[in-house]
Amino acid sequence: MPFDSLGTLRRTHYSGDLRPEHAGEMVKLMGWVHRRRDFGPLTFIDLRDREGIVQVVFDEEKNAEAHRRAKELRNEHVVAIVGKVLMRDKDKINPNLKSGRIEVKALELYILNDAKTPPFEIDANKASEEVRLKYRYLDLRREKMQYNIGLRHRAAMTVRRYMDEHGFYEIETPMLIKTTPEGARDYIVPSRLQPGRFYALPQSPQIFKQLLMVAGYDKYFQLAHCFRDEDLRADRQPEFTQIDIEMSFIRPDDIFKVVEPLMAELARLIDVKADLPFPRLSYADAMRRYGTDKPDTRFGMELVDLSGKLEGTDFAPYKNALDAGGQVKAINVTGGAKYSRKTLDELTEITRRYGAGGMAWIKTSEAGELTSSLLKALGEEKVTELAQEAGSKAGDCALVVGGKPSVAAASLGALRTEVAEREGMIDQSKFNFLWVVDFPMFEYHDEDARYYPMHHPFTSPREEDLEKLESDPGSVLAKAYDLVLNGVELSSGSIRIHSRELQRRVFTVLGMSEEEARSKFGFLLDALEYGTPPHGGMAIGFDRLVMLLAREKSIREVIAFPKTASAMDLMIESPSPVSDEQLTELHIKIVE
Ligand code: AMO
Repeated sequence: MPFDSLGTLRRTHYSGDLRPEHAGEMVKLMGWVHRRRDFGPLTFIDLRDREGIVQVVFDEEKNAEAHRRAKELRNEHVVAIVGKVLMRDKDKINPNLKSGRIEVKALELYILNDAKTPPFEIDANKASEEVRLKYRYLDLRREKMQYNIGLRHRAAMTVRRYMDEHGFYEIETPMLIKTTPEGARDYIVPSRLQPGRFYALPQSPQIFKQLLMVAGYDKYFQLAHCFRDEDLRADRQPEFTQIDIEMSFIRPDDIFKVVEPLMAELARLIDVKADLPFPRLSYADAMRRYGTDKPDTRFGMELVDLSGKLEGTDFAPYKNALDAGGQVKAINVTGGAKYSRKTLDELTEITRRYGAGGMAWIKTSEAGELTSSLLKALGEEKVTELAQEAGSKAGDCALVVGGKPSVAAASLGALRTEVAEREGMIDQSKFNFLWVVDFPMFEYHDEDARYYPMHHPFTSPREEDLEKLESDPGSVLAKAYDLVLNGVELSSGSIRIHSRELQRRVFTVLGMSEEEARSKFGFLLDALEYGTPPHGGMAIGFDRLVMLLAREKSIREVIAFPKTASAMDLMIESPSPVSDEQLTELHIKIVE
């Protein structure tokens, strides 16, 4: 069919914005046919654009030609409509539609383009993620995606306005750089002009923002694009965005004072009130009470240490764990006495994934009777004591794990979230922000018997721990802090090292030779000698933040064009092979 031309026709309103106050107005709308329904002399189309849907009515009696052409419309055809906004009769109101109290009586119809039948019905929510990602431009037409992308935009604008009002400069840092010390693999880019040399894409603007502080820019922020070649999960993408912040002449509190009201403003975008100031918890307490450094504090069920009660036990699994400096810990599941063998097996399986040898359980029936997988091994008296220590009441079930402190923590931490989700214990309306502070400076890796930075190697140790830096690195705490929201690590930051000498000492503890340090970060070491102010900052995962605001489970839902778990873009089919000429030009040979 021949298509109409847009000519001088221009949109006056978005369909989804029309409301009763527009009744009586002539409007020009442009968008996509969401659905068509014919009722004899009346044909209805739901017209969709970025802001939503409005019902348009074609009446054969009033305009036979437009009505005839409307009947040819198919889903996703592109149309322009000139019409009049009318109030709907009371019994015709559609409460599911924001514009559901009005409709538009069409006077003119322009068909601007047709469309193939889409591989999935927009908003039917039936397509697999693979199909959605392959046809992302169709998936983005869905109402929830329109909302998510709109929310992301509003969040970005809120950040920019807020940071500007607080005296921050947004400064772009380069993309073609050199390895960044965030601990993931780099994406590298070959150089045509310098054979055999490569750029790395930034894992974060970390070093550049520190150099901006050396340069005296004092307050910096950037909605920064970052690249990391790491294993992907629901909250990780190979490229993502950070709200990256750095300030000079500050202590951690000064950063918190900037970030907390910003978070509160962002929460307000979805009408959630965040209580200020945010609570703070030390890393050690977070691990002890929740088994994780990113606890979800919307529910309790804290870990209880049963080690004291098991001192001197001959029960081998616990004896071995305790003798080797390990722990036996538990969580108490309120109402867990109902758990079947199958449920307990599933929960045990989760603890195994975190390295536990197994999981024991103690149920207290409503009548107060105990059953337990530990009865035979420990006897009734001990098991009763453990149940009490765990805080079990009638109807509860204590879940018990013994092992290395890291294994007990990780497995019970995971059980805690799993049980809370299964039991619906989480108040989804809550936004629980939490600062986790006093992180250890280093973590020791048994595999290669050396220390790694817990944050990154530019993080400053606490002054009071400086003397232990070489003698007992494992006990040194850092001026580092994370911001956690509802169990998601939203952000990390720290006060940085601004002394050349201290930076050298930290590199040495990390087993980095002077030459290696120079070749990787020579420019930073040089800069540290030219008047570096005390400084620090943090980076907030913007995708994760918008994911939580949009109440989504994956950051893919708030990124317009995300990649799959195997780091592929299914729509543009990337990564893809390149031509031999390109490879030659880049001085690269593919080795199978
Ligand atoms: P860090 O590496 O902890 O710190 O990153 C900061 C925050 O960025 C988000 N994030 C990610 N989001 C999506 N996909 C990923 N692959 C991904 N990786 C990280 C997280 C994380 O908390 N330069 C330091 C910050 C600083 O010290 O100022 C840094 O990048 O929400």
